[in-house]
Amino acid sequence: MQNNEMREERETSLDPSNWNDLRELGHKMIDDMMDHLQNIRDEPSWRKIPAETKEFLDRPAPMTPQDPLEIYEEFKRHILPYPSGNIHPRFWAWVQGTGTPLGALAEFLAASMNPNTAIGEHAAMYVEQQVLNWCKEMMGYPKSSSGILVSGGSMANITALTAARNQQTGTDIRRKGVSAANGSMTLYCSTETHSCVVKAAEVIGIGSDSVRSIAVDDNYQIDTAKLVSAIESDLAAGNTPFCVVGNAGTVNTGAIDPLDQLLSIARRYNLWFHVDGAFGALAKLAPEYSETLRAIESADSVAFDLHKWMYMPFEVGCVLIRNAEAHRNAFAIETDYLMNHERGLAAGPDPMGNYGLELSRGFKALKVWMSLKEHGIEKYTAAIRQNILQAFHLAELISNDKHLELLAPVRLNVVCFRYRRDGVTEGQLDQLNKEIVMTLQESGTASPSSTILHGRYAIRVANTNHRSRKKDFDVLVSEVVRIGNGLSPA
Ligand SMILES: Cc1ncc(COP(=O)(O)O)c(C=O)c1O
Repeated sequence: MQNNEMREERETSLDPSNWNDLRELGHKMIDDMMDHLQNIRDEPSWRKIPAETKEFLDRPAPMTPQDPLEIYEEFKRHILPYPSGNIHPRFWAWVQGTGTPLGALAEFLAASMNPNTAIGEHAAMYVEQQVLNWCKEMMGYPKSSSGILVSGGSMANITALTAARNQQTGTDIRRKGVSAANGSMTLYCSTETHSCVVKAAEVIGIGSDSVRSIAVDDNYQIDTAKLVSAIESDLAAGNTPFCVVGNAGTVNTGAIDPLDQLLSIARRYNLWFHVDGAFGALAKLAPEYSETLRAIESADSVAFDLHKWMYMPFEVGCVLIRNAEAHRNAFAIETDYLMNHERGLAAGPDPMGNYGLELSRGFKALKVWMSLKEHGIEKYTAAIRQNILQAFHLAELISNDKHLELLAPVRLNVVCFRYRRDGVTEGQLDQLNKEIVMTLQESGTASPSSTILHGRYAIRVANTNHRSRKKDFDVLVSEVVRIGNGLSPA
């Protein structure tokens, strides 16, 4: 339609026609959700989604208005009863934090203010800077370092590795691309490193073939002698080693690489040292782990998630980069339409787009800001310690039960184990354990997930749950044994 063909119609807005009705509905939503969270222990940890709901969620886009109260009723019927379950006390699948009631309310406040935390002189920009400064304090980083809140660990790792790639080549890689480097740009990490680091290598153009996956020892920690010889071989072959990635808590077993050794190897070869501490970096707050994780303080960058072991509602991760200039140089871009002014709305802190891939960004800093103030770092430290002690309790229960065996050392908050039975093959044991996991989840009792360790199927518990109690792990163990004993091998 051409401009001159457009006829004026009555002006419209998306605000409610009756504010009081929506206000009343909002109060009801808050009451319902507080009840839901308060009583979550009485719910099953997981429920199968019925066919009727799947059909409902497959209908075409609505063309006409619907009453918000009716929409809310649909939410309660078709969406609320079928969560993944990470708010439940017996959820330990993958690595997913629990969230908090105030965190949920903070999301409402953030969405009501609805700032784009990208650019400009407004409070959200300063809240994020304050949150980043608090993150620096938690990780022992200097205030002069820089950082950005991102969607999660994957983005945090990509952001850090982009800065590392650019800083370490000494050529203008942003203009010339990675082909300007000598040979392949090679990155070193253990075979236990999360797949997002490999994805990052692909996205930043060095390619997954240039990720040197170094073998681990029996504790799932990187073999540093093999690391050194891989770096030496690449140097001899004319490649450009640029980065060592250390794990503070591997995704499979929670192993912590010898970070101090990795740091000194990285320094010896003048490589960037990055730590993927998606969940484990936060264990640094616990006095028992501060020494083991001390090298994070000297790393060039660290990635960690606040939606994992800081229990913030999804999603929010953080990356810190020691050399603020290297960070900014990797992403800053000048445009006419994003110009900073001396005064007014377009004054304010350095736009966040100069520190990451995204331009438009929500106000995820608010839930972090409010939650940290609500509990204080001491309470988070206590919750993290509690999760580790619960993991040790679970490991002890497993070790004391003749039907169960641990499949990896328990170092942090991750426990990998399996149900065992004499006279069956390894393949049958894998099948039995897989069946146990599915039956357990379907029963709504508990939700662990799984992995494969040394070719064996493992039931995997990753505990970043502030609602779990010791007794929940007792239930897990007795149910695994009960279900296992009731199954016949396939
Ligand atoms: C060690 C590790 N690194 C990175 C990630 C990716 O984080 P995210 O899922 O927040 O992108 C995870 C996720 O579990 C992880 O455990």
